[in-house]
Amino acid sequence: MKKSSVVIAGGGSTFTPGIVLMLLEHQDRFPVRQIKLYDNDAERQKKIAEACRILLAERAPDIAFSYSVRPEEAFSDVDFVMAHIRVGKYAMREKDEKIPMRHGVLGQETCGPGGIAYGMRSIGGVIEILDYMEKYSPDAWMLNYSNPAAIVAEACRRLRPCSRVINICDMPVGIEERMAEIAGLKSRREMTVRYYGLNHFGWWCDIRDRDGNDLMPAIKAHVAGCGYVVDSDAGTEPDWRETFAKARDVYAVDPDTLPNTYLKYYLFPDYVFRHDSRHPEHTRASEVMEHREKEVFAAAADIVARGTAAGCGFHSDEHASYIVDLAEAIAFNRQARMLLIVENDGAISNFASDAMVEIPCLVGSAGYEKISIGRIPLFQKGLMEQQVAVEKLVVDAWINGSYQALWQAITLSRTVPSASVAKAILDDLIEANRGYWPELK
Ligand code: NAD
Ligand code: G6P
Ligand code: MN
Repeated sequence: MKKSSVVIAGGGSTFTPGIVLMLLEHQDRFPVRQIKLYDNDAERQKKIAEACRILLAERAPDIAFSYSVRPEEAFSDVDFVMAHIRVGKYAMREKDEKIPMRHGVLGQETCGPGGIAYGMRSIGGVIEILDYMEKYSPDAWMLNYSNPAAIVAEACRRLRPCSRVINICDMPVGIEERMAEIAGLKSRREMTVRYYGLNHFGWWCDIRDRDGNDLMPAIKAHVAGCGYVVDSDAGTEPDWRETFAKARDVYAVDPDTLPNTYLKYYLFPDYVFRHDSRHPEHTRASEVMEHREKEVFAAAADIVARGTAAGCGFHSDEHASYIVDLAEAIAFNRQARMLLIVENDGAISNFASDAMVEIPCLVGSAGYEKISIGRIPLFQKGLMEQQVAVEKLVVDAWINGSYQALWQAITLSRTVPSASVAKAILDDLIEANRGYWPELK
């Protein structure tokens, strides 16, 4: 069986250890001969990488391991770039969340003005990594899950239309795991779904088991009662539990489909703001820094101090196995059906052909083929048209250095009440993002 070489870009990410462990667990279907880490923050990456080195030496001595901040070293001789960078790290995520709240608008990592600010930082970082890949390993594929994926995907479409990059998100996967549990199945892998929308902005319109039985009625009945909260949720973080529960109200707006949880930010922005502004100084980024980041880096330090990963605090991120599904499908031409963020080009017949949409695709060694969705209802179409315009205006703003386009983007977001509020938020965001955004005129 062919063995692949993988570089994880954003080596210092809190998700890196979970992904490395998850890769080890799936060696039977996606064998790797080499794992490299790449980051532009040497110090942060070293902490994670030295722990991974010990872990890999113990558990998979045949896999070559290295890490670097030098692009040539990191991107040479690779088949796959798995990218999860966060330009500006949590310090900037925190500002994305807090600045809009000062103006009475919700602050979120990928939605509304916070997501727009993050997009303006991410585009350059992701394109840079794509260029390194093409320079040092021109036949490789980049599997990108750096956020905000919708804006990043539109930027790739505009700036690198011929590149071998696939943008993907884990939220539908996570929700489908819940749906499978609700339907009494062992795994989401037993379901075939039809889904359409934009990234963090979509709906399921058909869900079947392997025999073709319609699972929508049973799942809808559950969601109408308690959203996507499931029996196995005892250990779920309170923030996420709230999001899964709120899906009940999101579902009620269109009971013909089942919604992505992220729609709560667009359909109930007033509720989210009221909820989050009870603790305006303690946002999701604060929470992640206090818990996930602390825990992952403490576990890494512990491995290095003890010189062994035996009984360590790194946990495999099984949730992330969708990345292996994607790599395996390309490496072994599996024709696997997966939700990807791709150029519409007629797949949704009554929607702009140049929009980046999230839809099912068949993935093989030649890339992906889109599955036709046909016409979508007016409600979804209207919402999507507004949101896709936001995403396109952000990319326009980045490419042209246009203040006007970015003001329009923020104004057009459903999360923002007026052009004057949009302008006030924008002016604060410009100040906070100096050195990260292109200069706007
Ligand atoms: P993190 O801050 O812990 O890690 C990100 C790493 O990227 C940091 O080590 C940072 O130094 C590095 N980095 C920043 N800019 C870089 C650049 N230009 N080049 C190379 N490295 C750079 O963040 P995290 O919480 O672990 O999340 C990582 C990313 O994954 C985020 O973009 C997050 O939104 C995304 N994510 C996406 C999904 C999805 O489904 N699409 C799921 C989870 C996380
Ligand atoms: C989901 C989304 C990601 C997002 C993440 C945030 O997995 O699909 O796009 O980055 O949630 O999670 P966090 O725990 O960092 O708030
Ligand atoms: Mn996502």
